[in-house]
This record gives sequence, structure tokens and C-alpha cells, in this order.
Amino acid sequence: MYWDKAVETLPAGELEALQLRRLRETVARALLSPFYRERLEAAGVTPESIRSLEDVQKIPLTTKDDLRRRGPDFLTVPKTELVRLHASSGTTGQATVIYYTREDIEAWADLVARSMYMTGVRPGDVFQNMMGYGLFTGGLGFHYGGERLGCLTIPAGAGNSARQIQLMRDHGATVIHIIPSYALYLLNHFEALGVDPRDLPLRLAFIGAEPHSEDMRRRIEAAYGLKAFNSYGLSEMNGPGVAFECPEQNGMHVWEDAFLMEVLDPGTLTPAAPGTVGELVFTNLTRRGMPLLRYRTRDLASYDDAPCPCGRRMKRLSRIQGRTDDMIIIKGVNIFPLQIEQVLMSLPEVHTNYLVELSRKNFNDIMTVKVEVREEFFTEDLRQLNALRKRITEALKSELLVTPVVELVEPHTLPAGEGKAVRLVDRRSEG
Ligand code: COA
Ligand code: AMP
Ligand code: ZN
Repeated sequence: MYWDKAVETLPAGELEALQLRRLRETVARALLSPFYRERLEAAGVTPESIRSLEDVQKIPLTTKDDLRRRGPDFLTVPKTELVRLHASSGTTGQATVIYYTREDIEAWADLVARSMYMTGVRPGDVFQNMMGYGLFTGGLGFHYGGERLGCLTIPAGAGNSARQIQLMRDHGATVIHIIPSYALYLLNHFEALGVDPRDLPLRLAFIGAEPHSEDMRRRIEAAYGLKAFNSYGLSEMNGPGVAFECPEQNGMHVWEDAFLMEVLDPGTLTPAAPGTVGELVFTNLTRRGMPLLRYRTRDLASYDDAPCPCGRRMKRLSRIQGRTDDMIIIKGVNIFPLQIEQVLMSLPEVHTNYLVELSRKNFNDIMTVKVEVREEFFTEDLRQLNALRKRITEALKSELLVTPVVELVEPHTLPAGEGKAVRLVDRRSEG
């Protein structure tokens, strides 16, 4: 039932003592990086000035923009000690890069293995990982966790639906990691192939990377005949394996021996009470190469600190309720509207107005981008217009990593960009 019983069931007081010790060590470590040396010195923070966990509030907050602008300045080790990097979308088309040492990769794999073990995965399970490999953390992050636990791990990656089903059948997958909307969309392929997923040996699924409801979880569980567990993480805190549901399915336990969590009132940035929704802020407690202090996730959730019947005391997070910024998640890929704007405005044929509409058909997310074409480029020649549409589609896909449906419209036919124009309409909850 426990991967690491001593840590997972640490009694009251001992967990906090461990966190405080690790927080002071992390502050000492962070001072080795040019970024935090500047920040912490300016704020007068030293390891000795952290006398209680509440003292974490003396440390200035770190933002995605800090990471984007100062990336390598966060390193506390020479570059030669790094063995991996991952990246996540940045607000202005420049990705946020996270670097890992060998110890960081091992510690991360251990947290993912712990998460999987908690839900009932055991050595000998066949684990099919259907997340994007490459720069996304969901691919390699879960892959290493599955291997560490002792699963036969299938690096299926995202996409190619018929092959996903074939792989599950050929190798007898018992555990899958899948984006929740894709799990429901994949049912169309099962149906077309005349295969009932309930006839396969599948028994557990991890679903995460995008917001989803209890209803979606229950639909996945019923259609596949398995138990589905919510999995939360973000690249800046390694990736998956930050918070994970236990068999009670009553919130996601935060691995507090590795992450110090704060939930802050988004207005005042002061601590929110249990049960009150606020912004999640995390501090790494065990990372070596690139520890982050008080990282603002922009994710909104609440927490429960009551003991859980599973025997773990670590706090439980609610589902993610939203964001404090305008980031959207499509097919498990994070997108900032500014990225779309920058791609479009770099194209001479595009007029100033555009409109992005998100919809969902059979659980497949569709991003339609309506673009006004400048008068001089708007022609009756369909071939030319089609070539332009293709070029815009390619440019957007290359920046966003998902393929939009681009529609070209005549100038001045979309709502004008006066003041704060509404350029994004999300209709996915209607679909
Ligand atoms: N996960 C996995 N596969 C998906 C998917 C999802 N969320 N959404 C769609 N797909 C499948 C489609 O069914 C299609 O396969 P098929 O034609 O065999 O049915 C294939 O991927 C391409 O679909 P398309 O709609 O043309 O994709 P796209 O170009 O807009 O996006 C993806 C390509 C799906 C590969 C990209 O969105 C992706 O990598 N998503 C996963 C991101 C991820 O792993 N996030 C985790 C972060 S930790
Ligand atoms: P990335 O850094 O690319 O891994 O993306 C991390 C973001 O994905 C988080 O900050 C959340 O906004 C979102 N996310 C990850 N897991 C979940 C989940 N289980 N539920 C809702 N949103 C999630
Ligand atoms: Zn529990």
C-alpha cells in the first residue's frame, strides 16, 4: 500500500520538522544561483532567517516570467552536471526551460513510482504511457516512474489512435496514462474497431494535464472498466508527481516531503484557509540543479488538511478550479493567447483582427482561428487563399504544437480590437 511508508505516514510534527530542515537547505542551495543570490540578498533572506515554515513568506515569489527571462541564472550546479531538460510554453513564445541533474531525475522517478504504487500499480503491470514524449514532462516523467516501479513500460506517446489500441491489445496493458478528453475521444476508435475496452485487462488509469470533472472521470471508469486517478504536476516542479489521488479518490495528496505548498489568496497573496480556493505556490525541498522558491503556478485550488483514511497525512488538493492568467490547455498542451497573437501579427497578410474559438466535438478539442486578411491580399483566387491558409496553419502549429482550423475572412468583419477586445471564446463546456 505504501511505496515509502516511513515518509508517507510521517506523524504530525515530524513532517513539518523535515520540511523546515529541507527548506533551510534549499535556501542555502538557491543562494548558489545568480538569480536567487540577487533576490534573497535584496530581501535579507538567509538560511538562518528561516526559523519556522511560516518564514517562507519572507522569500519573494518567483514567476514564469522570471524563469523565461533568467533561465540559466537559476542553476546551482555547473552545466556539465545536467543530464536532461524539459520545456513548457512561455507567455511570449519563449519556452520555460527546466534542467535536471541525475539525482533530480532519480528523485522525480521515485515520486512518480510512489504515486503509481499508491493507486495499486505493482511490479509486473504493463503500463502504456500515452502522453507526448519529447519536451513534455508527462512522457518521460511517467516513463521513468513506471520503470522504477517495475512495470513493463510502453512508450506509446501521444496520437496515432489505432496503434494505441493495437498496443494495448498486443501487450495486455493493465495501466494507462492518458489525457482525460482523449480517453473519451478514443472510445470512438474502439467502437469503429469493434473492440470493447472493458474486455481488455485494463484496471487503472492516470488522468491529468488538463482540468476535468468528476463526471468525466466516472465516464472514463465506466467505459474502460477501470479506476481512474487524478494526477497533478507542472514542469517547473519536475512535472507529474506533485500531487496524486490515493484509492480514497477524495483529493490529491501533495508530496509534502518534496514540495512545500502554499495556497494564497489571489488578491492579497496571503495564506488562504483550508477549503478556500487560492493560487498554488510551491517551493522545491529536494531539487539540486534548479531549486525554485515560492513558484507561482497560477493554478487555483483549495486544500484539505484532515487526515485521510488511507493513513497519509499529507494535504489533499481539490481539482484544479481555474487559472489566474489566460493560459488555456488544448489536448494537454498549454497555450497562451499572446502566442497566437504574435504568430498572426508577424504575417504581413494578416489584418489586425482575429478571433479564436475553442469547441469540443466527440471530446476532441478544436481550435478555430478566424483571421482577417488585409484588403490587398484578399483575392478571389481560391488557390492563393488556400496557400495562405495553409501557411498560417503551419506557422501556428509550429508555435503552439496543436493544429488549428484556420478560417480566412474579409477585413473588418470581426469585432474590432477596441480596448480589451475579446479574442478568445471557449465553448468547450457546451460541447
Ligand atoms: N493525447 C493523445 N493523442 C491525441 C490527443 C491527446 N490529447 N488529442 C488528439 N490526439 C490524437 C488524434 O486522435 C490523432 O490521432 P488519430 O488521427 O490516429 O486519431 C493524432 O493525435 C493527431 O491529432 P490532431 O488533432 O491532428 O493533433 P494536433 O496536431 O492538433 O496535436 C498532438 C497533436 C495530439 C500530438 C499534441 O496535441 C500532443 O502532443 N498532445 C499531448 C500533450 C501532452 O502529452 N501533454 C502532457 C503534458 S505533461
Ligand atoms: P506543464 O508545465 O506543461 O506540465 O503544465 C502544467 C499545467 O497543467 C498545470 O499548471 C495545470 O494548469 C495543468 N494541469 C496539470 N495537471 C492537471 C490536473 N490534474 N488537473 C488540471 N490541470 C492540470
Ligand atoms: Zn489518502
